[in-house]
Amino acid sequence: MNAVLYSRIIRPLLFALDPEFVHRQTIRAGSQLSKSAVACRWLHKAFSVQYEELRVEAFGLRFQNPVGLAAGFDKHGYVYPIMAGLGFGHMEIGSVSYQPWLGNPSPTLLRLPLDGGLINRLGLNSEGSEVVYGRLCNVRFEIPTGINLVKTADPTISGEHAIEDYLQGFSKFYPLADFITLNLSCPNTIEGRTFEDPELLAPLLERMGKRTAELLADGSRRKPVLIKLSPDLEDHVLDRIVALAAQHNIDGFVIANTTVRRENLKTPKYVLERFGFGGLSGRPLKTYVEEMVEKVSARTARRIPIIACGGIGCTPGKDPAEEVWEYLNLGATLVQLHTGLIYRGPSIVRRINQGLVRILRKNKLSSLAEFFQGRAGFGNDRSSPPVEISHCDSSPPSFTASI
Ligand SMILES: Cc1cc2nc3c(=O)[nH]c(=O)nc-3n(C[C@H](O)[C@H](O)[C@H](O)COP(=O)(O)O)c2cc1C
Repeated sequence: MNAVLYSRIIRPLLFALDPEFVHRQTIRAGSQLSKSAVACRWLHKAFSVQYEELRVEAFGLRFQNPVGLAAGFDKHGYVYPIMAGLGFGHMEIGSVSYQPWLGNPSPTLLRLPLDGGLINRLGLNSEGSEVVYGRLCNVRFEIPTGINLVKTADPTISGEHAIEDYLQGFSKFYPLADFITLNLSCPNTIEGRTFEDPELLAPLLERMGKRTAELLADGSRRKPVLIKLSPDLEDHVLDRIVALAAQHNIDGFVIANTTVRRENLKTPKYVLERFGFGGLSGRPLKTYVEEMVEKVSARTARRIPIIACGGIGCTPGKDPAEEVWEYLNLGATLVQLHTGLIYRGPSIVRRINQGLVRILRKNKLSSLAEFFQGRAGFGNDRSSPPVEISHCDSSPPSFTASI
C-alpha cells in the first residue's frame, strides 16, 4: 500500500469510523494475518527494506534499522509477526501488567487531525502477564522485541505490594524478552504517585537489581533494562531519575510517553473539554520530546542510549526520515513511533529507512555507525565515570496522570 493511497483513500475512510473500533478491528485482522506464514512473507516483501548502512548496535543488541514500534499498539502480543513484517527494526509489546486490568470505559481515544495528534486514556488495560506470556512463550522474535512493563493499574496495590507486583511481571518476562522497558508513569497509590517519584523509584530499582542477580544465577544472558519517561517531568525530578538510572545500571531511556499538556492546539477547546483527560501523542508532543532528548543526552554525556519517541510522521508535508534524523542529531540512538503509523499508514517505516539512506549519502556518511562514531560519548560504556547531576534535591516531584 503506498503512501498516497493511504492518505487519500484509506485514512479518510478509517477516520470516519470510531477510533476504538478501528484499533480493535486492526488488531483482530492483524492477529489472523499473523497466523499465516504466506501473509507475513508477502508483507515483508511489500513493506520491508533492509540496508546494511542503517544497522545500529545499542545496549548489546543489534538492530537492522533505528525505527521501532512504540508500546501501546500491540498491548497484548497479538500482532507481533505482522508488525515485524512492516520493516520495524524493533518493537515493544505492552504495557503488560502482572495482573489483568480492564482499563477505562469508552470513549478512550480521540483523534486530533488538525494537530496530527491523538489523545488516549485506555487506563493501562492489560490481559495480564500470565495470558500475554502464554501467547508469546513459543514465538521466535525476528527483531529485537521488548516487553514494556507497568505496575497493575489497580490503585489499591500500593507501597511494598506495588513493588512486588512490578517485580512479578519483571521476573516472568525477563527470560523471554530481548529487552525490558519499565513504563514508570503509572500510578502507584491511591494518591496517584508514580514510580517516577524518586522516593519510589529508588527502592524499585534496588529490588529489581537483586531480582536480576537471582535470575542470572543460572548463567542466563543479561537483558537490557530501559526506563520510559513522561515528557512532563520537572527538571529537578528528571535529574534525580537520570542519576538513579546511572547508579542502577539502567541500559537506556525511552523518551517519551504521552503528555497531559494541551498547549498550542488547533483543535477547538470545546472538543478537548468534551473528551476530557488523557495522554496526548503525535505532533504536539514532539517539541517536548526534542527538549527532553537533548537534556538527557547532555546530562548523561551520551553514555546511556536514548530511544526518542514522539510525533514522528505526524506533520503533513514533512519527511518523517528528516524527523528521525533530527532526533538522532539531538542525541537519540533509536526512535519509536505509534501515532505516525495511524496518520501515514504501514509504508511509513519503509519511507523513513529509504529517506535515512538518502540523508546519510547527502551528508557523505557511509553508515549510521559512522555517524554515531562521530558523536562524542556514543554508546553504553560502563567504564566511564557515573553521570554527575548538578542539582539533586529532595523537593516533591510532579505527578503525571495515568492514561
Ligand atoms: C493508543 C495509545 C496507547 C498507548 N499505550 C501505551 C502503553 O500501554 N504503554 C506505554 O509505555 N506507552 C503507551 N503509549 C505511548 C506510546 O508508546 C508513545 O510513547 C507515544 O504515543 C508517543 O509516540 P507517538 O507520538 O509516535 O505516538 C500509547 C500511545 C497511544 C497513542
